[in-house]
Amino acid sequence: MIHELDGKVKELVELLRQSGKCVVLTGAGVSVESGIPDFRGPEGTWKTYDPAISTASSFVLKPHQFWFFAMQFVGPLMRAEPNPAHQALAELEKMGHVTCVITQNIDGLHQKAGSKNVIELHGTAWRSVCVNCGKKYSFQYVMDQMVPMCSLVPRCMECGYILKPDATLFFEEIPQQLYQQCLDELNHCDLLIVVGSTLLVEPSGSFPEMVKKLGGKIVIINLEKTWFDENSDIVINGKATEVLTQILQEMKK
Ligand code: APR
Repeated sequence: MIHELDGKVKELVELLRQSGKCVVLTGAGVSVESGIPDFRGPEGTWKTYDPAISTASSFVLKPHQFWFFAMQFVGPLMRAEPNPAHQALAELEKMGHVTCVITQNIDGLHQKAGSKNVIELHGTAWRSVCVNCGKKYSFQYVMDQMVPMCSLVPRCMECGYILKPDATLFFEEIPQQLYQQCLDELNHCDLLIVVGSTLLVEPSGSFPEMVKKLGGKIVIINLEKTWFDENSDIVINGKATEVLTQILQEMKK
């Protein structure tokens, strides 16, 4: 397997060496090897749950159902540590080969691995927000309400309204400022590497096409095929940890 990857890894290393500005877009696949399930992979969350549970309207109508769903992921999230893929990306940033990581993940593992310039496009699981007054709360505050007090939903201590994770649900808008930050990075990059994403969710699903139109190169690192493979310059079907570790080793030579 590693042997098969060798040629493609070398091609990617060549692109990275030539690149003046490389942005990496990560999806749920990059955290699977840290024990956090993805959404649409063979054992993805949406194979067990209906994604409708994670829509903005469903949250408003049945917040207790959403929080019951969300609490299933608290254990894996709290146990998760950055894996070699997160670490390789942090190291590549330190070496000056990666300028920014745009992530759809809400687990905070890129920052924990040491990446500095991270855009959390879908927000974070580590903070919650009151849907009425906008007051922000720590993960610990939510856990203190949900676990020992067996609440169905966590509530704001100021106004008593329901809290929502500070993360984007389906049919919720991405904050304009975050989206603009992504555009600023993408407009100036000459290489976009996508790691562990089906590219089926917008707006990030359109980022490769956007960069390609501006003349940049696109690399996909994913276990399975994606719809953008045919338009990409290099496609590497493999595990994020194995591929990125090899790339890092080559870049250090
Ligand atoms: N290495 C590389 N790729 C992997 C690995 C791995 N170890 N494990 C899984 N994958 C691949 C899967 O095969 C799949 O193609 O990662 C991809 C993950 O895709 P999705 O589950 O669709 O995740 P993502 O693209 O991040 O989803 C976007 O959808 O449900 C929403 O808001 C949620 O942010 C999420 C968004």
